Amino acid sequence: MTDLSSQQIRGQFLDFFEKKGHKIVPSFSLIPLDPSVLLTSAGMQQFVLYLEGKKDPLKDFGTWYLTSCQKCFRTADINEVGDDIHHTFFEMLGNWSIGEDSNKGYFKEEAIDLALEFLVDTLELDKDKFWITVFKGGNNIPKDEESIKIWQEKGIPKERIKEFGMEDNFWGPIGEVGVCGPCSEIHYDRGKEFGCQKPDCRPNCKKCNRFIEIWNLVFMEYNKNAKCQMPNAKCYNYTLLPQRNVDTGMGIERLTAVLQNKPSGYETDLFWPIIKNIQKISSKKYKEEKRIFRILADHLRGSVFLIGDGILPSNLDRGYILRRILRRTIRYAKVLNLPENWYVSSIKKLSEIYGSTYFELRTKETEIITVFQNEEEKFGRALDKGLSQFDKLLKRKRKSGKRKIISGLEGFSLYSSFSVPIDLIQELAKERGFEIDIKGFEKALKEHQKISRAGAEKKFGGLGLEKVKDKRQKVKVIKLHTATHLLQQALRDVLGDQVKQMGSDINEERLRFDFSYDKKLTPEQIKKVEEIVNQKIKENLPVKKNEMDYQQALKSGALAFFKERYPEKVTVYFIGDSLEKSYSKEICAGHHINRTGELGQFKIVKEESSGAGVRRIKATLES
Ligand code: ALA
Repeated sequence: MTDLSSQQIRGQFLDFFEKKGHKIVPSFSLIPLDPSVLLTSAGMQQFVLYLEGKKDPLKDFGTWYLTSCQKCFRTADINEVGDDIHHTFFEMLGNWSIGEDSNKGYFKEEAIDLALEFLVDTLELDKDKFWITVFKGGNNIPKDEESIKIWQEKGIPKERIKEFGMEDNFWGPIGEVGVCGPCSEIHYDRGKEFGCQKPDCRPNCKKCNRFIEIWNLVFMEYNKNAKCQMPNAKCYNYTLLPQRNVDTGMGIERLTAVLQNKPSGYETDLFWPIIKNIQKISSKKYKEEKRIFRILADHLRGSVFLIGDGILPSNLDRGYILRRILRRTIRYAKVLNLPENWYVSSIKKLSEIYGSTYFELRTKETEIITVFQNEEEKFGRALDKGLSQFDKLLKRKRKSGKRKIISGLEGFSLYSSFSVPIDLIQELAKERGFEIDIKGFEKALKEHQKISRAGAEKKFGGLGLEKVKDKRQKVKVIKLHTATHLLQQALRDVLGDQVKQMGSDINEERLRFDFSYDKKLTPEQIKKVEEIVNQKIKENLPVKKNEMDYQQALKSGALAFFKERYPEKVTVYFIGDSLEKSYSKEICAGHHINRTGELGQFKIVKEESSGAGVRRIKATLES
């Protein structure tokens, strides 16, 4: 086994695949392109259109073979964080072959060959410690006999090849429908000392982490489709994609733990400096409070990366994910008696560990610290109050001698008065031997949301116009709103469909538009966008609206802003004579002017970064 730092492992992986003809693609932002998905959770996400056969990799990358080290964030296993193998944020190494046929791309055999060559020849891992899992069939998809045969031909004995079903060996799709396929995983046997000692302990053992899954090879040749169009009917079928792809993923934390011979990623150079740092200022030791130290380090790192990509704490979607993990760090910092500003030195350490790979950690260091400070200010005191209220409640309940259950309403009251996230209340309750009625809590929350939504809908189109008193200014805001629609379409014309709205803010002076795009715009691109918008203004196109079902709106090609939760019926604003022939269509609640000719001269006054993979444009209209 070679002695490598995590930085070297990352480098060697990308080098290896580059030498094998793969193009190195930089990590995409944690904010994915697909508006229906909250966070990037796999390396393949930025390549979905290529995997579906809708885009040509040759045109965009010059090859069918790609490789990357992708920032990923998963919340599904958040309660497992603290054990040896789960993280919220992690980095995934991957290689892809897009569209295999007789004269291009590769499939199972080459993917397996490449994986073995990298692990055995480059990293010098002991092949005798590899166990392989393959798909045993299910949902009318046949067993992967081919992979079983290939692994054996490559020297893995049959006894170390195990078969599993849909749950373990079929990967994807990311959302409800989409690209997916049978997968074959390489598990590394870390030895009995890591195991549960049961004689039948095998990969995917539910009791221990002796067999650590290091690499997942997905043979992506299926699409999962919704079979019937009835709302909420959960019936699906699987059809073959027009092409066969390889999609692989290897978590760098696990691989580094294996190579550095550590029990988990936390003891490797990816995390250990942070844990040591926290230990220095804590009254407790890592050995005594391993789980808490690990959660703190994991969530701290996760928060830093989320903020680095432009996410801010909020009560909605990805902002809420960030808020939850930030608030969990604040809570656990109290358990370890950490001093105020405990996170500052660790955030700096993270910049040292990751800054040369992910520049945003360096360039945004001050901003990241400020977000922590603000959230701590907001939540730290509320948490103290919430905790004392919580303990009073439990005391009353203990005295009354009733069952140890916190009702949904009691939970909701703690949640809404002190902003304590519900999973935190649940965790605190469990620690004190109480249960919380989650169903009751959800009901109370829904009720509350219904009331506040009714209030919000009364507002004037969500543009904040209720604050603007002057009629002339109101008209200006409305004009800038229509201009924002033209701008989004013009950006897509010039930069491609990857442009998606990430945020928007309009006042009487200017519009601000954030969108997904990973490069600085050139002066020529900016000029072109301006020209297109001004051309559309000159054409004096009508701005019209149609009410329709949300699904129908998406089918018509109307753009949707991912942060919004849409009702079943939506309004689509389109600019042009008819919906079909319109220049721009967007699902939108807002107010618009009647014809583009009223807008005046459109001018982009600023183009800048607003987080990794997100650009920000400020523009004005001059009359
Ligand atoms: N997309 C596969 C995964 O995330 C490789 O495991």
